[in-house]
Amino acid sequence: MNQIKIFSPATVANVSCGFDCLGFAVNDLGDTMTFTKTSDKSIKITDIQGADLPYNIQKNAAGAVVLAMLEKHPVDFGLEIIIHKGFAPGSGLGSSAASSAGAAFAINELLGKPFTELELTKFAMIGEEVACGSPIADNVAAAIHGGFILVQRYDPLAIIKIPVPKELMLVAIHPQVEVKTKDAREVLPSKIPLEDAVTQWANVGGLISGLYSNDYKVIADSLCDVIVEPARKHLIPHFDTVKNAAQEAGALSAGISGSGPTIFALCKGESIAKKVFKAIEGVYSNTNIDFTMVYSKINTQGVTILEKN
Ligand code: HSE
Repeated sequence: MNQIKIFSPATVANVSCGFDCLGFAVNDLGDTMTFTKTSDKSIKITDIQGADLPYNIQKNAAGAVVLAMLEKHPVDFGLEIIIHKGFAPGSGLGSSAASSAGAAFAINELLGKPFTELELTKFAMIGEEVACGSPIADNVAAAIHGGFILVQRYDPLAIIKIPVPKELMLVAIHPQVEVKTKDAREVLPSKIPLEDAVTQWANVGGLISGLYSNDYKVIADSLCDVIVEPARKHLIPHFDTVKNAAQEAGALSAGISGSGPTIFALCKGESIAKKVFKAIEGVYSNTNIDFTMVYSKINTQGVTILEKN
């Protein structure tokens, strides 16, 4: 194989109660990336469309992943990389993770698949560290594996794939305000009351049980975050209004996507999702803040090959 073009999905991390350990992939939003072997042995990013990101291979999340993989698996060819960002960096929808996971997957294919999915997740975490300072696995694992994932453990890394109920739909709004992951982590409490911890881990268990059993009521009851959302929601204008509007329109619940500012809502079925989309849109249409919105199924495949030759 000399060239591969892949699609790598956007992701929603945390999913309310699962801070740093739950995530899912978005079907209709993501990056497209092309990797072409060259004879000159250098690794170059030749084009980045859709975002202002570093071309320097060490400073670019995808570039750092490629370097780490080729250090473990040396090759006698070079690479040209084209990145087409399908959504904005800094949205809270796993932008750097999509590029990092896409790079890990594509290079593995070009090398003849020497690495496991777990190893690819670890390589992709290097990109997360370059982009946001922390090697967090929730977004990259969801992008690589698809569907819902649980990061059961970081050391040694353990990822569990969780089934996706068929009718589950995502509606998300990305208000054009800046929330840096680093800043959103600094507002978090360093200690939490035991009572809150019990509520939170019971909700993680409830959410996973609901996803396995297709029980939308249990999913709705469990999409509750008593630790991170209360500490972060002031960073996102009109968060409570959007959440209330989504729930009144029939959403199972709504919360902060990753570290924000995107707000996600999960819904049962397309007709409810359409109503929730309109309700959320209505809230932000009455403000002077620009926004974009997404309406999508849950991606169950993870990174996929678009073309190879
Ligand atoms: N889970 C991270 C956070 C963001 O909420 O800070 C995504 O990796």
